[in-house]
Amino acid sequence: MVENLKPGIIAIDGPVAVGKSSVGSMLARRLGYVFFDTGMIYRAFTWKVIESGIPPTDEEEICRLVDATRFEFVAVQGWRLSPIIDGEDVSSGLLCPRVEELVPVTSKIAGVRRALVSQQRRFAGRGKVVMAGRDIGTVVLPRAELKIFLAASTEERTKRRHSELVERGENTDLETVMTELKKRDEMDMNRTISPLKPADDAVIVNTEGLSLEQVVDKIFALAADR
Ligand code: DC
Repeated sequence: MVENLKPGIIAIDGPVAVGKSSVGSMLARRLGYVFFDTGMIYRAFTWKVIESGIPPTDEEEICRLVDATRFEFVAVQGWRLSPIIDGEDVSSGLLCPRVEELVPVTSKIAGVRRALVSQQRRFAGRGKVVMAGRDIGTVVLPRAELKIFLAASTEERTKRRHSELVERGENTDLETVMTELKKRDEMDMNRTISPLKPADDAVIVNTEGLSLEQVVDKIFALAADR
C-alpha cells in the first residue's frame, strides 16, 4: 500500500494479449487500489445479448437492452472487480468462444459504448483505481493522471495468448491464435468510435522481453514520480 500517491486513476490501454490484465491487477494490488478490466463489462453485456436472444444485427434492440440493464461491480480477492449483470454473476462465461466472437460486434455500437463508458466513469469517480481497456486514456478518462499504453509485437502477444489458452486446456495452435489476434487488432484499431490508439499524453511501455514484475516496477516508478 502506498500512501499519498498522487495518481488517483491509472489508465492502461493496449492491444489484445499485451498483458493489460496481469499488469493492471498486480499494479493495483501493490498500490492498494482496485483493478477494473473494462473488457469484462463489454463481455458481460455481450453475454446478456446472447442470453436475451436478440440478433446481433438488431442494434436498436441491443441499445434498448443496454439502457435497461443494471450493472454492479464487486471486488473479488479484495482488489479485482467483477461485473454483476441484473444481479447475476456472469464471470464464468465471459471467455467462452461465443462471447469472444460477438464482443467486437456489440462493442462498436454507439449506444452500447455510451452506456458502458458512463458506467466506467461512474465507477472511476471513487478514485484509487487502475482501469484497463482500449480507450481509457483517450475517451473514458481523458483526465487520468497517469496513462500507460502497453505495446508488444504480434509474435510475442501470440505466444502469450497461446500459452494462456493451452493452460486453460484449449486445443489450439500458434497460427490460429495469430490469425484471431490480428483480426481483433484490426477491428479494435479501425472502428469509427473510440478506436484503439495511445492518448497523446500516454507513456508507451514496450513489454517485449520484460517479465510481468519488470513491467509493473516500471509503471510503479512512473506513478511514484507524479
Ligand atoms: O480486453 P478484452 O479482450 O477482454 O476486450 C474484449 C472486447 O471489448 C475487445 O474486443 C474490445 C472491447 N473493448 C472496448 O471496445 N473498449 C474497452 N475499453 C475494452 C474492451
